[in-house]
Amino acid sequence: MSEDIKNRIDKLVKEINFHNNAYYVKSAPVISDFEFDQMLKELEQLEHDYPQFASANSPTKRVGGDITKKFESVTHEFPMLSLSNTYSEDEIKDWVVRIKKLSEEEITYVCELKYDGVAIGIRYKNGELERAVTRGDGTQGEDVTTNVKTIKTVPLTLHTETPAEFEIRGEIFFPLENFSKLNKLRAEAGEELYANPRNTASGTLKSQDSKIVAERGLDCYLYGVYGYDLNFTSHSEAVKTAGEWGFKIPDSNKRMIENCKTIEEIMDFISYWDKNRFQLPFEIDGVVIKVDNYDQQEQLGFTAKSPRWAIAYKFKAEQVSTRLNEVTYQVGRTGAITPVANLEPVLLAGTTVKRASLHNQDQIEKLDLHIGDQVYVEKGGEIIPKIVGVDMSFRSKADGVVEFISHCPECGTELIRKEGEAQHFCPNEIGCPPQIKGRIEHFISRKAMNIDGLGPETIDALYNSHLIENYADLYDLTFSQIVSLERMADKSANNAMASIEASLATPFEKVLFALGIRHVGETVAKKLARHFKNIDQLAAATFDELIAVNEIGEKIAIAIQSFFQEEKNRIIIERLKNVGIHFEIEVVENASNTLKGQTFVISGVFEKVSRNELKELIEKNGGKNTGSISAKTNYLVAGENMGPAKLDKAQKLGVKIISEDDFLTMIEN
Ligand code: IVH
Repeated sequence: MSEDIKNRIDKLVKEINFHNNAYYVKSAPVISDFEFDQMLKELEQLEHDYPQFASANSPTKRVGGDITKKFESVTHEFPMLSLSNTYSEDEIKDWVVRIKKLSEEEITYVCELKYDGVAIGIRYKNGELERAVTRGDGTQGEDVTTNVKTIKTVPLTLHTETPAEFEIRGEIFFPLENFSKLNKLRAEAGEELYANPRNTASGTLKSQDSKIVAERGLDCYLYGVYGYDLNFTSHSEAVKTAGEWGFKIPDSNKRMIENCKTIEEIMDFISYWDKNRFQLPFEIDGVVIKVDNYDQQEQLGFTAKSPRWAIAYKFKAEQVSTRLNEVTYQVGRTGAITPVANLEPVLLAGTTVKRASLHNQDQIEKLDLHIGDQVYVEKGGEIIPKIVGVDMSFRSKADGVVEFISHCPECGTELIRKEGEAQHFCPNEIGCPPQIKGRIEHFISRKAMNIDGLGPETIDALYNSHLIENYADLYDLTFSQIVSLERMADKSANNAMASIEASLATPFEKVLFALGIRHVGETVAKKLARHFKNIDQLAAATFDELIAVNEIGEKIAIAIQSFFQEEKNRIIIERLKNVGIHFEIEVVENASNTLKGQTFVISGVFEKVSRNELKELIEKNGGKNTGSISAKTNYLVAGENMGPAKLDKAQKLGVKIISEDDFLTMIEN
């Protein structure tokens, strides 16, 4: 009986691995998703019922769930070197000439893509994935095996004849489609977007919860095989054989060329990918040229840091020149003015660019911008392109110099620029439409009153129909007023009404944040609420009383006082009080004293609770939150993407590092 079960498990593992490879590596599925899921479910059930037969490399590990508390440091058997880099085609030519001089034989080269991700070394023993380690400092890296096992294109078990022991190296990266899906979800949840796929891949790989890694859909290309008895004579042979073993290697001869013998062929590869890299479903930051033959590689040897037999050509951040048609100015919620360059639309890094950020007046002056200038636009790792210079050979065709505006483009009020500040402001807080709408949008936002039945378009429509002029007006709205807006269905109007009603329960500290007092962010609002207990005491506080509060400086104190000096603001607060909004702190009994005397630092992003909820839970259970790790810290609650510096410091100081789940278990008890 148990023999039958074991055989069935082995058979399922083999079949699932085969279909996994067909689907993810070869992109040629043989069975339907449904059939695949059925097999996986059966295996999960069997492993659950007969854990003695479950293997550490079962394909059920792909879904993740195992937690790595601490990534162990591992010394690489073969150091993970880097490549010498150049941005210059001439240097590539010089390198080829140098190599030719060093060897009498004919040299053949392999040209590959330089994947922009995180280097990984994965060891296999007797056909089983044993350990996956990051590059680290090249000598020592971190053991991220649990997380790497969730990457579908990395085989867990090799079903063909392979050397007993070897290490395969490659690059883990974030496919662009999965990266934008992740950012879309974050945008919907009101979370800050990740800036670029490379850093996010690196952060994800260090997640303590492998489930997160599994969900995000990282991928991996392999580009090198290391070991003692490998019997390969060339790099291309090793890579192609790794492909036969089930690893993901470039599947088109455009993405990897071998048998390359001339500078011209290398240059063609470089220029092809410099132009076409944006068509790839992942990011590359250059190409790598390698001497193919292993004997020749050995003859050429290494410098201290990198092999002489390989070189990377790095692409320059893509730059185009286009005409500056106009500079327009955006007015933010706080009245801050941001100049925006309106450009003649131009294709850059795969997207059409029409606008670029100009930051402030100083930036415009530094660039000495003239309307009609031909400007250089560059896209680095960031999402918004920037102007990096002017092509002076076109200057004679340009019009006048860009004069920074003196009056608000929205309400005509004269702008001010405070001493020492880079930004201009429109001081007409009360009458300037984008400031009014911006304040209402801030008021309803997730971290403030969380009125999710209203969005910026509805706020716009309500304001344009003169139904609201400030956030207190929201509470006077009727169903028929909302439903009368264009394209507003009954259901949405009901939702809006319900979420306005629900916002009455918002606690004081969030209400205080929602008011949009300058410099009063979430944390400051919390501090003020705790200290002054209610809005009346806060409004009556003197300057000295304000700055006596921990972390409240002069700038914040002035902003608070000027907010309450404004009669219109006082009237709005009275109206909000009358509809039942909380303007005093609720005396919350501690849920428990479980965490009494314990100091916590939280870092990273969490899955089950938000950072704020986590902080609240710590405080409700009698614990204390602090921002930075010190010898007094008892626990570091480590989320995803936490900074390595914090982790390092915590380890050095012997601070206990716990996961979100550990924390939740702590307070459950
Ligand atoms: S070969 C001895 N090939 O580039 C060096 N590296 O500085 C062996 N990379 O972080 C590396 N694509 O992970 C090689 N096709 C490729 C690569 C590649 C990306 C990364 C590598 C390392 C960096 C080299």
